[in-house]
Amino acid sequence: MKRFSWRVMLGFMFVSSFLLLQGLNAQYVAAGKCRACHLPQTKSWEQTRMSKAFELLKPGVSADVKRAHSLDPDKDYTHDSNCLSCHVTGYGQAGGFVSLEKTPNLVGVQCEACHGPGAGYLKPEMMSLQNKEYKRSELVATGLVVPTAATCQQCHNKKSPFFKPFDFSTRVHEGTHVHEPLKYKHD
Ligand code: HEC
Ligand code: HEC
Ligand code: HEC
Ligand code: HEC
Repeated sequence: MKRFSWRVMLGFMFVSSFLLLQGLNAQYVAAGKCRACHLPQTKSWEQTRMSKAFELLKPGVSADVKRAHSLDPDKDYTHDSNCLSCHVTGYGQAGGFVSLEKTPNLVGVQCEACHGPGAGYLKPEMMSLQNKEYKRSELVATGLVVPTAATCQQCHNKKSPFFKPFDFSTRVHEGTHVHEPLKYKHD
């Protein structure tokens, strides 16, 4: 009996630490954590409409467009799960946006909405100043996303009340951030 409960206990500890690690791996760290190493991208992203996309859910904002699409311009959509998935970062994902009160640092379409949750790949042996020549495939295995059209189409699709036809190559240069060629080898 004593032995049995030890096993159950150890099993439980193993499973819960595994789940905890998984959770930590998927955690979103917010754009402030990317800034120091990617200043040009961060500064220009701050000027984009996507960085401010959460504002659109507030009452009175973009009232005319909302009215034209049969949405109530005076309604507060900031807690509406029908809208949040595309106007915040990591909604419904482990360690992602939960609510304006709990995760105010994850409002808007931030870096990690396109590049994947940072906690897994922001490690000294992964993406860091000590390891500038990281192997891209290793980072991708820990959550880094090199965006493709499919990344954008998670939000730019017909479920959006404001869907507009989406051409990846033109839109990348209109809406994301300035792009600089990578300096180091990653393969
Ligand atoms: C499936 C993802 C998705 C959902 C769900 C979604 N949006 Fe959006 N929303 C977008 C995208 C993408 C755009 C930008 C469209 C474009 O420029 O191609 C957008 C644009 C907007 C705009 C600006 C429109 C303009 O022309 O200026 C407003 C306002 C807005 N959304 C409010 C809402 C509200 C309110 C809800 C919930 C009722 C909602 N959205 C649900 C993805 C979504
Ligand atoms: C998490 C959801 C989400 C993802 C992922 C996403 N977008 Fe958006 N995008 C939005 C929303 C919401 C808006 C509306 C912002 C507004 O109209 O103010 C928008 C607006 C835009 C705009 C119009 C902004 C402007 O300044 O005119 C462009 C361009 C754009 N997105 C390109 C992209 C590209 C390219 C990708 C993929 C690399 C992408 N988006 C991924 C949600 C998303
Ligand atoms: C709406 C999606 C989107 C958002 C938000 C976004 N990026 Fe990107 N990012 C891209 C795309 C698409 C590329 C790849 C462009 C290409 O293939 O040339 C990219 C490329 C990059 C690169 C590679 C070098 C370069 O300049 O192209 C870095 C570094 C980067 N992003 C950092 C960031 C940081 C930091 C943030 C937040 C401050 C951010 N990104 C936000 C879509 C996004
Ligand atoms: C401690 C510094 C540091 C931080 C913090 C950091 N990065 Fe990086 N990142 C780098 C370095 C170094 C490279 C390689 C740059 C090069 O080759 O020119 C890189 C490359 C990238 C690339 C290009 C990926 C590829 O190989 O195609 C993306 C995208 C990116 N970072 C996104 C982010 C995002 C998003 C964050 C925040 C969640 C972030 N980075 C935080 C140092 C950092």
